[in-house]
Amino acid sequence: MPISERLSRLGSGVFARNDQRKAAYLLRTAEEVAPDASPLPPLLDLSLGSTDLQPPQVALDAIAAGLQRPESASYCLHAATRPFREAVAAWAHRRFEVTPNPDTEVLLLVGSQEGTAHLPLAVLDPGDVALLLDPYYPSHMGGLHLASASPVLLPIDPEAGWRPDFDRLSASQWDALRLMVLGFPHNPTATTGEQAWLDGAVERALRHDVVLAHDNPYVDLALEGEAPALLRHPAWRRCGIEFFSFSKSWCLGGYRLAFAIGAEWLITALRQLKGVVDFNQSLALQAGAIAALEQAPHWPEQLRGVYRERRDRMATALEAQGWPVRRPSMALYLWLQVPEVARARGLDSEGFCAALLEGTGVCLTPGNGFGPGGEGWQRLALVHPVEDLEAGATRIGDWLRRL
Ligand SMILES: Cc1ncc(COP(=O)(O)O)c(C=O)c1O
Repeated sequence: MPISERLSRLGSGVFARNDQRKAAYLLRTAEEVAPDASPLPPLLDLSLGSTDLQPPQVALDAIAAGLQRPESASYCLHAATRPFREAVAAWAHRRFEVTPNPDTEVLLLVGSQEGTAHLPLAVLDPGDVALLLDPYYPSHMGGLHLASASPVLLPIDPEAGWRPDFDRLSASQWDALRLMVLGFPHNPTATTGEQAWLDGAVERALRHDVVLAHDNPYVDLALEGEAPALLRHPAWRRCGIEFFSFSKSWCLGGYRLAFAIGAEWLITALRQLKGVVDFNQSLALQAGAIAALEQAPHWPEQLRGVYRERRDRMATALEAQGWPVRRPSMALYLWLQVPEVARARGLDSEGFCAALLEGTGVCLTPGNGFGPGGEGWQRLALVHPVEDLEAGATRIGDWLRRL
């Protein structure tokens, strides 16, 4: 069967590989145990940024009410998304004091993952060069592969506090770029970042005629500092597009709701592309999103409190087990170096993740799934109650001591 080269470049993906591992582990936990053997510990899945915290009830009520309306069952074309786009424009005004035009500068998305993965198809031709930070969020690279683009990686490292050094690219490299995809607060390094870093990127984008896509699903989840935003730079209308999501701020990840705000020509291009590949989310889901924006604008604040406690207690628990932790400045993740004892036994990030799951039932995400710069690292998602996280830390510590 013919499979495109583009697809083979995509590879299997870190989340899909982990999915298989977890499925195999779950099968084994369901098997009968020999009388003299101890049962496998239950799976503790800390590998996905999919929260256990609840969305606002007003959003769920609005969705439930919307489900009863016949128009929610129909295909939804762009024009019918206007109430949603108006609510987004009003949110942007409250949040960033900008006034995007809801008709031309706002677009409903089926997830910021969907939007960032489709954008390269809308703005790049095959072979065009695009910049990602390394480590990067996997679908950013996936989107470049789908567009047959040519990725350039800009490594960021812990010694510099994960600050991107844009001067590492020469002027001619900048001139060759057509697109850069950034995202601060940054997944997977769990770094809030600084507005000055993003401002530096905007200035280069303007100077070298590069599209700047800023993926910002964690805009409300900085634990230290203020989350950067493209919308805070006065030139956002000229060169950029910013992606926001209901998945993290309002815990609606499974409902698949997000939006983009940006330069009219970029919004128009992405909208044209999406016209080929999807219709919009149901009006019932959009009603939930509008309710979240208008009636639960402060929802993310209480999430930050929960994540802050989880971060601090899990960091302390892991450190007590001998695994050093850099305390991250944003919610949801710890970004951990594979412990020395495991490295000494030749375990790379994928090997460590597999062995840890086998040995403890705790599943993390291997850092190599986020690019070459993630090799030697693991991402741990703080998506279970703190007691479960601490119990997981104990299991991990026991296992590390047996290595
Ligand atoms: C940087 C980044 N972009 C996009 C996504 C996906 O968000 P959404 O649910 O809006 O597609 C995630 C999810 O973890 C993410 O970390």
